[in-house]
Amino acid sequence: MIKKTPANNSVAKLSINNKTYSFPIYKASEGNDVIDITKLHSLSGYFTYDPGFTSTASCKSNITFIDGDKGVLRYRGYDIEALSKNSNFIEVTNLLIYGDLPNKSQLKKYHTLISSHTMVHEQILKFFNGFRRDAHPMAMMVGVMGALSAFYQDSLDIHDPHQRMTASRRIIAKASTIGAMTYKYSIGQPFVQPDNTLNYSENFLRMCFSVPAERYKISPILAKAMDTIFILHADHEQNASTSTVRLAGSSGANPFACIAAGVASLWGPAHGGANQAALEMLETIGVKRNIPLYIKKAKDKNDPFRLMGFGHRVYKNYDPRAKILKETCKKVLNHVGFKNDPILEVAMELEKIALKDDYFIEKKLYPNVDFYSGIILRAIGFPPEMFTVIFAIARTAGWTAHWHEMIEDPVQKIGRPRQLYLGKKKLTYGKKRSSKNTR
Ligand code: SDX
Repeated sequence: MIKKTPANNSVAKLSINNKTYSFPIYKASEGNDVIDITKLHSLSGYFTYDPGFTSTASCKSNITFIDGDKGVLRYRGYDIEALSKNSNFIEVTNLLIYGDLPNKSQLKKYHTLISSHTMVHEQILKFFNGFRRDAHPMAMMVGVMGALSAFYQDSLDIHDPHQRMTASRRIIAKASTIGAMTYKYSIGQPFVQPDNTLNYSENFLRMCFSVPAERYKISPILAKAMDTIFILHADHEQNASTSTVRLAGSSGANPFACIAAGVASLWGPAHGGANQAALEMLETIGVKRNIPLYIKKAKDKNDPFRLMGFGHRVYKNYDPRAKILKETCKKVLNHVGFKNDPILEVAMELEKIALKDDYFIEKKLYPNVDFYSGIILRAIGFPPEMFTVIFAIARTAGWTAHWHEMIEDPVQKIGRPRQLYLGKKKLTYGKKRSSKNTR
């Protein structure tokens, strides 16, 4: 429900060519109020122009709140610090989708429902055989998540709430099984079936690291670290991949197709691919004495190099997720005996220097969630190519929650942005050809 403007009915006025237009202002429950410009084009003939949507709200939402200046992140009103300390990933997926924390019996029922979907159709195992062994795990994740619509036709009808919920549970449950399969396939080991006696994170670690020849012992510290990473990556408001899922969903595409679109968007190094890129950057820097060279490159306008794992479109203060992961990182490295991990030493030194450097302070570039997640995942035993797969598994919670919210929004319509056209005016088709056309 949109809260109309305060009693004084404040509106935004816009004057164009001596005509003044008024647009309603909607009050946010927290954060930025918005100006409703839906009638701008019909009234004035103008579009707004906002590449990258830096000042544009694409929708109204009750799911996640971020305050970039204060470094605040809340899922359905709960601070991420409290959730990562007291909750678990399955409970957080329930909170994001249903809007409130479940009671004990609701959570038990929900967990049983999710667990009943952890296995995948047997034909999907054959599906993997079409990939080369050196395929990037995200290439397999995009393909297989989209292909689920070919296997689960009884949960494709987006107008049936029961089918929508079944699809969401299948997506969340099967994402970790499929994610683990992409890892096993890439290292030539047999797939490991899920074990529903374990919790979500324990199950994922077991499906990734157990082998038939040996008994697999779950490490509570690594399982807790895995669960913290899943919780922290579960949702993040209208980021690029979530906006992709919403846009795909607005055309009426089936839920599995929408999630596959989200996986594809997340893969980019400026978004979910940054954790892999951040670790590869730390490995390229190698030792502390090389850091100043890379800081210089990051500041050089003519050098495309950026410090991966730094900066954020919204957080112009420290990413609260990075703060939590920094503590998790120390626990995991102690546990696995990487006390003097050179990569962590480079990471800590890079963070220290960047936080004191005028360029980074002026541009408000702080470590983001991807800076520490890569180091933790590497310490747990994952190769960098698996980092974004793990991000995608976690983000299925937010993607499905936003997908439900978009479909249930009575004013929702197909997303169809406009443009500022700067191309050629009308030409007549004829013999004249441009000499500039080099094919
Ligand atoms: C995620 O949206 C989300 O919520 C995403 C996410 C989620 O949970 O879904 O939080 C997950 O994607 C985290 C971000 C991971 N990406 C990286 O770590 C890649 C490195 N970071 C940058 O590419 C960049 O900071 C972005 C993409 C994250 C944000 O870019 P913006 O907000 O569009 O900022 P910008 O590119 O306009 O940069 C502003 C200035 C520029 O300098 P000027 O043109 O003003 O002179 O800061 C500079 C940039 O050159 N800058 C950097 C930098 N990031 C920005 N300079 C060096 N290193 C960097 N990392």
